[in-house]
Amino acid sequence: MDLFRKKTFDVEERGGMKRTLTLKDLIMLGIGAIIGTGIFVITGQATAVYAGPALSLSFVVAAFVVVLSGLCFAEFASRVPILGGPYSYLYVVFGEVVAWYAGWFLLCEFMLAVSSVASGWSGYLQGFLNSIGIHLPTALTAGYDPARGTYIDLIAGLVVIFVTVWVTQEAKKALRLNNAMVWVKFGIIALFILVGIFFVKPSNWQPFMPFGAKGVFDGAALVFFAFLGFDAVAMAAEEVKNPQRDVPRGIIGSIAIATILYIVVTLILSGIVPFDKLNISDPVAFAMRYVGHNFIGSVIAIGAILTLLTVTISMMYSLARLLYAISKDGLLPKFMQEIDPKHRTPKKATWVAGAFALFFAAAFPLQILAELTNIVALSYLALMGLGLLKLRKQMGPPKKGEFKVPLVPLLPILSVVSCIFLMTRLKPITWLVFGITVVIGTLIYVFYGYRNSELNKK
Ligand code: ALA
Repeated sequence: MDLFRKKTFDVEERGGMKRTLTLKDLIMLGIGAIIGTGIFVITGQATAVYAGPALSLSFVVAAFVVVLSGLCFAEFASRVPILGGPYSYLYVVFGEVVAWYAGWFLLCEFMLAVSSVASGWSGYLQGFLNSIGIHLPTALTAGYDPARGTYIDLIAGLVVIFVTVWVTQEAKKALRLNNAMVWVKFGIIALFILVGIFFVKPSNWQPFMPFGAKGVFDGAALVFFAFLGFDAVAMAAEEVKNPQRDVPRGIIGSIAIATILYIVVTLILSGIVPFDKLNISDPVAFAMRYVGHNFIGSVIAIGAILTLLTVTISMMYSLARLLYAISKDGLLPKFMQEIDPKHRTPKKATWVAGAFALFFAAAFPLQILAELTNIVALSYLALMGLGLLKLRKQMGPPKKGEFKVPLVPLLPILSVVSCIFLMTRLKPITWLVFGITVVIGTLIYVFYGYRNSELNKK
């Protein structure tokens, strides 16, 4: 039994997808996937309960961890430009079993992220509907929680269906809506900053760290969620015109833009509203209402409702392409590797992605979904850091024109350590469910993947 059999890659050997994406498309894809529920929803609770105004520092900590992973990603994306992201990269350097775990964590991450954002989106939309007098039956307002009388999150389910249908259309078409919404997202954040800055009371920043350094790090482990999606860029490599040059730039560029916006928004938010009043689901809109700008608050709420949709689209897009890539290698059933002849997108893989995301979005509450998303993501990012060290051993330093992580081995080691550190800040229940996820992943590999892997044929 060879668990570490490796895949080789040939840059010329491509699938049937169209190469249409440019750097601008990638940064839009990145921002579309990154900025969402994290800043619009989770910031409120994280400020009130975890870190206070020092949540801005939590974002710096989380961004530090994400940038280190982003650098490793960028070198992989520039040197191993094949579809599937970390899953494919680790297949090349470590071999099949490690690749499978990375792929499995990544599938779980994207699926849980689609579900989390759909669930957050549903909360925002329901808040808006309630404000105009439309109320859904309680049973249909949130995931399974009989104590509160909720069974299915109807709106989260419907949005997943809508997004799935959209993403099965041509990639460009799905991204076009995404691009338009990214501008809406920039617009409402700019509106918040430009209006909010005049209402900041520096006294609200005292105490700056009400929960101490512990709060800052716990906050970082939670708002790490706000950066997920940066990897969507690397995974579009097969559809990018010039992947060597543009994928690394797309990753770093979108992380940098998001980090700056997050820090500014958090500082203004906690400068306007005393931090202990922020334990709410629409903090950015709430802050505007708090200073008497109800209309601007509503504009921001509607903008957030529209733009959270783009995060769901970007995540679904990447999830479907990952299923396609893993199925192409034989580790998941073959039907998912079919490319739709008309739209040239992996249609069946997208339907499978949609079905799973639909189930989780409709059935589970947001809190559980978001924490789990972080733990699976941090796991494969730690594997990526190790993978970079192995890549350098195997293929030597990058050639001219390829992206190079500086200070190897220091930075990749720091990346692995910092991912594990953030994981240790997550709740015991999250670790328990994570353990179950690992067991399920192992069973799939042992009973399906290992036997059906394409590498058996070689
Ligand atoms: N980073 C994404 C968000 O905050 C997952 O919604």
